[in-house]
Amino acid sequence: MKRLRLAVNTGGGDAPGLNAVVRAITLAALNRGYEVFGIRKGYLGLLDTSQLMPLTFDSVRGITHLGGSILGTNNRGNPLGIRVVENGQERYVDVSDQAVENFRRLGFDGIIAIGGDGSLRIAVGLMQKGIPIIGVPKTIDNDLAATATTFGFDTAVATATDAIDKLHSTAESHERVMVVEVMGRYCGWIALSAGMAGSADAILIPEIPFRIEKVCEKIMAREAAGRHFSIVVCAEGAMPVGGEMTIVEKGTPGKEARLGGIADKLAREIEKRTGKESRSLVLGHLQRGGTPTSFDRMLSLRFGAAAVRLAEEGRWGSMVAYDPPEMTAVPLGEAVASLKTVPIEGDTLRTARELGISFGD
Ligand code: F6P
Repeated sequence: MKRLRLAVNTGGGDAPGLNAVVRAITLAALNRGYEVFGIRKGYLGLLDTSQLMPLTFDSVRGITHLGGSILGTNNRGNPLGIRVVENGQERYVDVSDQAVENFRRLGFDGIIAIGGDGSLRIAVGLMQKGIPIIGVPKTIDNDLAATATTFGFDTAVATATDAIDKLHSTAESHERVMVVEVMGRYCGWIALSAGMAGSADAILIPEIPFRIEKVCEKIMAREAAGRHFSIVVCAEGAMPVGGEMTIVEKGTPGKEARLGGIADKLAREIEKRTGKESRSLVLGHLQRGGTPTSFDRMLSLRFGAAAVRLAEEGRWGSMVAYDPPEMTAVPLGEAVASLKTVPIEGDTLRTARELGISFGD
């Protein structure tokens, strides 16, 4: 059996559970007699080999419960198009040949790339250039169609639910409307799950464009019933019927648009229309930080070990996927082909509607 020499990187935004995946990959590989190296700072570490670090039993000791990534991460470093600014002019340079050359010179057999749709798309490009890659799905957004869930999502939902729980008491004592914005990019998974678990009165998700008058109707119906406060949870990608998502920063070839700001707009509009004092809150990167839940730790450990199994079997070009109760593999290209949006006819949404939660439609 060949002793593999593996490299591991974590790309894109961080997610709770990254360290648990790195630990599982390292232990499963070392216990097979393989060598493992971490590539720091996402794919950028492939261009600067001082960013390589050997992963040993010692270097992954006691990290399962830690948020962040011991390897660091980067959501701007795409070797197929690195952003360069010269004389105030911006351009994107393909330096992937150098990445491939470094990979070969260092004698690696393959990379286990832990990433979301953006980083896994880069992985597909680097595979086409000749670097064997196995993907591990990571994102708090839970938006990859090929896997039942991604690690980091459960922790993000727990953090958001905890925040919503805390907002109830202040909303009630001030008789206010609190509008909470959660992450999730183009999908409403975090908003739907945290909103339901946190007993929100209205949940606004990108999959169901909202009408502000419907949201206000719900708030006023509560008012009439003697409930003088309301909690509205909105996904950062929520948008009005016929409108667009609210953007903080436009996308570039190397980086997707940054969403955000819808909660503030909503709170102002709700206050204007209902006369009820309203406040907004953006949970932001809090949702990406902190200790992973036990569910995310388990999922991460299983993803990491499954990725090494795929490497052992030579199944480069695939991504590990969770198909409960088993781990499976799907072709990397397929894994990033489609977004997993919230099914609007699904049981979770139906349940929410049966509980009287408004979706602003
Ligand atoms: O994809 C994960 C995510 O946290 C999204 O929910 C959010 O839109 C985005 O990343 C934020 O990215 P950044 O770290 O660039 O602010």
